[in-house]
Amino acid sequence: MTAVPAMGPTTGQASFYEVIERRRDVRAEFTGERLPDDVLTRILGAAHRAPSVGMSQPWDFVVVESDETRQAFRDHVTLERDLFRDSLPSERRETFDRIKIEGICESSVGIVVTYDETRGGQHVLGRHTIADTGLYSTCLAIQNLWLAATAEGLGMGWVSFYREDFLRDLLGIPAGIRPIAWLCVGHVSHLETVPDLERHGWRSRRPLDEAIHRERWRA
Ligand SMILES: Cc1cc2nc3c(=O)[nH]c(=O)nc-3n(C[C@H](O)[C@H](O)[C@H](O)COP(=O)(O)O)c2cc1C
Repeated sequence: MTAVPAMGPTTGQASFYEVIERRRDVRAEFTGERLPDDVLTRILGAAHRAPSVGMSQPWDFVVVESDETRQAFRDHVTLERDLFRDSLPSERRETFDRIKIEGICESSVGIVVTYDETRGGQHVLGRHTIADTGLYSTCLAIQNLWLAATAEGLGMGWVSFYREDFLRDLLGIPAGIRPIAWLCVGHVSHLETVPDLERHGWRSRRPLDEAIHRERWRA
């Protein structure tokens, strides 16, 4: 069994670890059904409750429903996909050809998450040694969104095959604010149980034991 059915309206009862287990990066399983406003507000609320360095909350969310905007973005992503494909050695190219990398037009909605490094002023508590902590905070908001969407029985896919300037221009995002992710969010027919990249032979997951180091780094 490689797929689990989309969760129904009783999703609030799904346990935390079950949600983590079910979460998948979704590209091909979107149905395109409209997302009710209250659900959208709930998952954005979950994202907005993420921890952030110095409580800076450096993120914003641009919700994109327009077909025209989504098609323009999809066309740009297709070009970038082709560039990446052309950079691959032939055997990797064959594997990559089997992999869908986005569901921009098929999803219910696009959510672009941005990062504003000026949010919180000049003295962001906890950021003076590590500038990237603002970026980390934004990624935590994305992960909250991903898990909340999964708990709602939805799917989400992260698209990063784009040039930041293109997306900034497309959505009128001010200079200096970075678009961190285009997230495809929406109703799904089902969720796969194995990541697409693994199913298509691109890369496998590492065992947990390999990732754990005790006391000191183990080579
Ligand atoms: C920062 C980031 C960028 C990603 N960009 C893409 C992307 O452009 N296209 C895509 O298909 N998946 C993208 N993914 C999804 C990963 O491929 C996916 O998380 C990974 O293969 C593991 O699969 P799973 O999320 O289903 O467990 C991205 C994930 C992250 C965290």
